[in-house]
Amino acid sequence: MSHLLEKCASYTRARDARNAGLYPYFLNFDGRDAGTARLAGGHQVVMCGSNDYLGLSTDPRVADAAAEAAHRYGAGCTGSRFLNGNLDLHDRLEAELAEFFGKEAALVLTTGYQANLGAIGGLCGPGDLILIDKDAHASLIDAARLSRAKVAWFEHNDADDLADKLARLPRRGGALVVVDGVYSMEGDLCPLPALVEVCRRFDATLLVDDAHGAGVLDKGRGTSSHFGLTDEVPLITLTFSKAFGSIGGAILGDAVVIDYLRHHARPLMFSASASPANTAAALESLRILREEPWRCTTVAENAAYMRRELTALGYRVGSGIAPIVPVDTGDDLSTLRAWDLLVEEGVYVNAVLPPAASPRLRTSYTAVQTEEQLNRAVAGFAAVRDRVLALPAAA
Ligand SMILES: Cc1ncc(COP(=O)(O)O)c(C=O)c1O
Repeated sequence: MSHLLEKCASYTRARDARNAGLYPYFLNFDGRDAGTARLAGGHQVVMCGSNDYLGLSTDPRVADAAAEAAHRYGAGCTGSRFLNGNLDLHDRLEAELAEFFGKEAALVLTTGYQANLGAIGGLCGPGDLILIDKDAHASLIDAARLSRAKVAWFEHNDADDLADKLARLPRRGGALVVVDGVYSMEGDLCPLPALVEVCRRFDATLLVDDAHGAGVLDKGRGTSSHFGLTDEVPLITLTFSKAFGSIGGAILGDAVVIDYLRHHARPLMFSASASPANTAAALESLRILREEPWRCTTVAENAAYMRRELTALGYRVGSGIAPIVPVDTGDDLSTLRAWDLLVEEGVYVNAVLPPAASPRLRTSYTAVQTEEQLNRAVAGFAAVRDRVLALPAAA
């Protein structure tokens, strides 16, 4: 085996976990509906680990829109939007997104990951400075690194540390500040008013990745709108893989900026466009979101209910208003054991280990989970409580 590949043979972490029967990844689901899923083999679980916050991924109207688009336009576009892969569907989705989120223009890409690569890589280069929150999503970190700008981190949600770094760090070009609107692992919001003020003071441009806020907060209009600051945030990125129940991503901003990115965002120009089915599904989800704002209220209520119930059972959970409720499990092994016990009890949650974040169970909720399903999840957490809380690090 070549030197380069030797690390693959000596990588044992996943193998060890599989051998211990505690491997929580690449689980095979062979069916799912609004609130539950079935594991291959038939074991039914209440789904408390999806990002389908509004329950739209299995909505028949969204599925029908995807199927119709596949029949009308084909399964894929076989090219980038820049050349042969642009559909009226992409253009329509851009117009409707811009209108809904209150920005001048939008640019649709094939994933949210690519939207971040496109926005940051398209705007930043050598000489520029990127300041990024320490807990920002991996796609933002990758984008910053790929841009060849100077990259520095500031303490999570700490606007004073950001100001200090903007004051001290040299830059030849511009400065970009990069944050999540809602942090994907903790469910906390960025302190947007303070960030906006610091960016204004230091002539820095703010980019908010609103993957987990768009479609959810403020009747779906997202984190910037929740704070009443949409006009003060020049760049917002989105994904359709969460509240929109599809796949795809977008960058929102001023028309001149979006037009520039249309011609400089490499993931847009050198990767095939979002499929007709995924684009039509996102459009239909946006239509439903506009007409059914109750979904945003219900998902918040469901998450608040679970937060209360889990706390009452003695679990340490994250606070906040997002549909993401992390449950502290202390260390890696305790996290894997707790995850395994819960799946046995019929509750699926996500086991999160470093380096993604500190060890935890990431639970998340949707607008279409029934009271009965949520109570089944609570019963599952109750059934394993004594064993989970007895695990060394969770005690
Ligand atoms: C904060 C954040 N940004 C971007 C992404 C990437 O989105 P996508 O799944 O559309 O690539 C994710 C997905 O996990 C995310 O949580």
